[in-house]
Amino acid sequence: MSASVCTSRTCRANVFSSRRSVRVLATRTTYKISLTHEGKSMELAVPEGESILSVALDKGMDLPHDCKLGVCMTCPAKLVSGTVDASGSMLSDDVAEKGYTLLCVAVPKSDCQVKTISEDELLDLQLMTSQ
Ligand code: FES
Repeated sequence: MSASVCTSRTCRANVFSSRRSVRVLATRTTYKISLTHEGKSMELAVPEGESILSVALDKGMDLPHDCKLGVCMTCPAKLVSGTVDASGSMLSDDVAEKGYTLLCVAVPKSDCQVKTISEDELLDLQLMTSQ
């Protein structure tokens, strides 16, 4: 049995595309996230550019959420360690600088330890910093 090699332009483009995808996947950073919710902890591997919430939901964690846009504030959390980019959220800068974030828009920039908090705790902080 001999293998045939397609030399058409489309096939060459597909080979190039798949080689490029492998290279991109091989260099994509993944961050280790320890997420605690209601006393239970889970370790997550969050690829660069993805939110903690999306990966946690994919892994079957039952986390409060709604809009997934950083607007409704139903997914609040506190960073114990590490850094995230949550620049798309409605949190005030003061609250974000204290380590609070919204999991739906929290994109890790390092390995992190994160714990969920109540919406009330976050809303109280938001109100205190807006006065
Ligand atoms: S799900 Fe709405 S702010 Fe996160």
